[in-house]
Amino acid sequence: MTVSAPVRPLEQAASGPTPKPAKSNAVLEVEDLRVHYVTRFGHKIQAVDGVSFSLKQGEILGIAGESGCGKTTLVSGCMGLYIPPLFHTSGDVRIDGKSIVGMTLEQNRKEVLGQKIAMIPQGALNSLNPTRKIKDMAADMILSHDESADKKSINDRLRERFTRIGLDADHVLNSYPVELPAGTKQRCVIGISTLLNPKVVVADEPTSALDVSTQKAVIKLLFELMDQEIISSMLFITHELPLLRHVSSSIAVMYAGEFVEYGTTEQVIFEGRQPYSRALMGSMLSAEPGQKSRKPVAIEGAPPKLDKPIPGCRFAERCPVAQPDCRTTEQVLRIVAGRQVRCKYADTEVVEQVGGGL
Ligand SMILES: Nc1ncnc2c1ncn2[C@@H]1O[C@H](COP(=O)(O)OP(=O)(O)OP(=O)(O)O)[C@@H](O)[C@H]1O
Ligand SMILES: [Mg+2]
Repeated sequence: MTVSAPVRPLEQAASGPTPKPAKSNAVLEVEDLRVHYVTRFGHKIQAVDGVSFSLKQGEILGIAGESGCGKTTLVSGCMGLYIPPLFHTSGDVRIDGKSIVGMTLEQNRKEVLGQKIAMIPQGALNSLNPTRKIKDMAADMILSHDESADKKSINDRLRERFTRIGLDADHVLNSYPVELPAGTKQRCVIGISTLLNPKVVVADEPTSALDVSTQKAVIKLLFELMDQEIISSMLFITHELPLLRHVSSSIAVMYAGEFVEYGTTEQVIFEGRQPYSRALMGSMLSAEPGQKSRKPVAIEGAPPKLDKPIPGCRFAERCPVAQPDCRTTEQVLRIVAGRQVRCKYADTEVVEQVGGGL
């Protein structure tokens, strides 16, 4: 559907050139990263296509987008997990100023994973090996970076850490995953992932498949770990854009392998200026006061396949306010109203016809 509305620039939406990621105080810097898969038929899927951002010490960046937009591929790229069929195409990733691109997987496992950047995996409940006790899986994390650690020091460390994250350490460490409730298993996964106090934690859909009260408990635990300085900075990946309101300080909305809007949580949630991020907000149920009666509006269609270049705006086929030139003009990220936006009409009234913020 195309709505031909008058295109008038908004006064408050000041525009500017494409920004570069900040260099100072950043623990993670991602510069024009491109990552692709090669399918078994030899097709190239450009799942991440030119993403740049920086994560500061103490910052939580939320990354939101529908299924298949490239969120998990982006974080795999940020961790240097280039395991075929996933390949680094171009661009750089630096953690604490040091590039991790080009490292062998072995070097990466020794020097980066777990210590500098650690992942709480998507589907964390299934990431625990059902045939091993929690203490054995946790010990592996320590031993992977300190082969000489002795049994007693490992046990002491595990008991201290598991107690600190609110678990009955003796019971939990000596249990098999199947003997523990979902919320406890989730705490164990988070406890194990963060054992080495990584600089950056990547939480990929850490609350999906959990009931609402367990979701809240997991988010509370992540904040506790930040307060205790076990975690310092985090990438929090979710389908649920509204959830980020209570979690992150900034948000990047991802679509078809690209960032389409990147700003503060307030900017993206309350005053989104990109049609996809506005539609994504409008498609979610909201439990916010005064919003419970608002009916969610689904985004028709599905994200495009990424096996060949898409001319023009990647969202144009589904955009309720697409203009005739959107399908042919490539969209670049630029600054509009203080955040990065990928939409030629972001500083016009046209975008305000789409769904909208809370
Ligand atoms: N092993 C693979 N081989 C080929 N293409 C893949 C592979 N894994 C993912 N893709 C493709 O890469 C794109 C990005 O997928 P990705 O899993 O990163 O998305 P996502 O945003 O994390 O989705 P979800 O919210 O469902 O987890 C999709 O088009 C997907 O089909
Ligand atoms: Mg994913």
